Amino acid sequence: MLLRTRSDIPSSEITPKETFEAYKCSRRSVMAGLGAIGAAAAMAGMPELARAEAKLTNLVTTNYTVSDRATTPPEKAKSYNNFYEFGESKSDPAANAWKMKTAPWSLKIEGLVKKPQTLSSDQIFGFKPIEQRVYRFRCVEAWSMVIPWDGYPLSNLINVAEPLPSAKFVQFLSLADPKEMELPAGIDWPYTEGLRMDEAMNPLTLLTFGSYGETLANQQGAPIRVIVPWKYGFKSAKSIVKIRFVDKMPPTTWNELAPNEYGFYSNVNPNVDHPRWSQAHERLLNTNSIFPKIVPTLMFNGYGDQVASMYAGMDLKKDF
Ligand code: MTE
Repeated sequence: MLLRTRSDIPSSEITPKETFEAYKCSRRSVMAGLGAIGAAAAMAGMPELARAEAKLTNLVTTNYTVSDRATTPPEKAKSYNNFYEFGESKSDPAANAWKMKTAPWSLKIEGLVKKPQTLSSDQIFGFKPIEQRVYRFRCVEAWSMVIPWDGYPLSNLINVAEPLPSAKFVQFLSLADPKEMELPAGIDWPYTEGLRMDEAMNPLTLLTFGSYGETLANQQGAPIRVIVPWKYGFKSAKSIVKIRFVDKMPPTTWNELAPNEYGFYSNVNPNVDHPRWSQAHERLLNTNSIFPKIVPTLMFNGYGDQVASMYAGMDLKKDF
């Protein structure tokens, strides 16, 4: 999601892909190691700041398991993250997100609803049995993982708030606290994302509190995030503090930064390339190998049966 355009960079400065991959992998493992040591040392000094990952009880396993792909090892899913509030490199969130205080936490539901309310994370966790769903998760940067996410359909929470008929879109706002986060310049914080109402109500859209049977690690967006498996990963907002029901398409962080690169819909679509790279294939980060398999990307990330009908009649090249 770098914003510098190719045209700014002379071709002599562009690193050959092989060199980049090799360098990136070695740099990543060194930094992940340093990050883990730094985080452990810091946690020892300030254990009250972050809620440690805890086992989730009463998990109901559902039939969303992706049978043709192995599950990404948890240490990979928790050390290769995008969470720009904590820095721009993949290892920054694991190194820095321990500073975020995730308890107590409250989520405000506001806007076009009959029952606006503020709920604590514990109220939200206890509201329904927590399901485990193994989803494919595809980043716009053309890598993907396979992750068991734990939560329940967002629609369960939406129904509690009783949206008005005028509510057409849902906006998610993440925490933006300069005391706990780096909040790099260039992004208008808080991070915000949005879905059309039918997308938010789709049974695949998961209000997520955990992964691998444990509460989310801070770098994954603890204590509450959204997972929208048929869309690029940036639609899945982390550490959300507000859900707002609105009548017009809401602004979203990446669309505001680069509207020609990141559309509101951002459905995984191998037929519509990002202006700077192809979306036809992805690096499958589901092993610890430094040579990930490259596989073809599937339309709607393979969830077409459950979601394609929501886009019937739309031109997905225009509404990308
Ligand atoms: N949510 C917030 N608040 N801030 C972010 O920077 N990054 C997005 C999304 N949600 C992001 C966010 C992007 S670009 C991706 S790919 C996914 O989170 C990454 O989720 P993961 O780190 O759990 O793989």
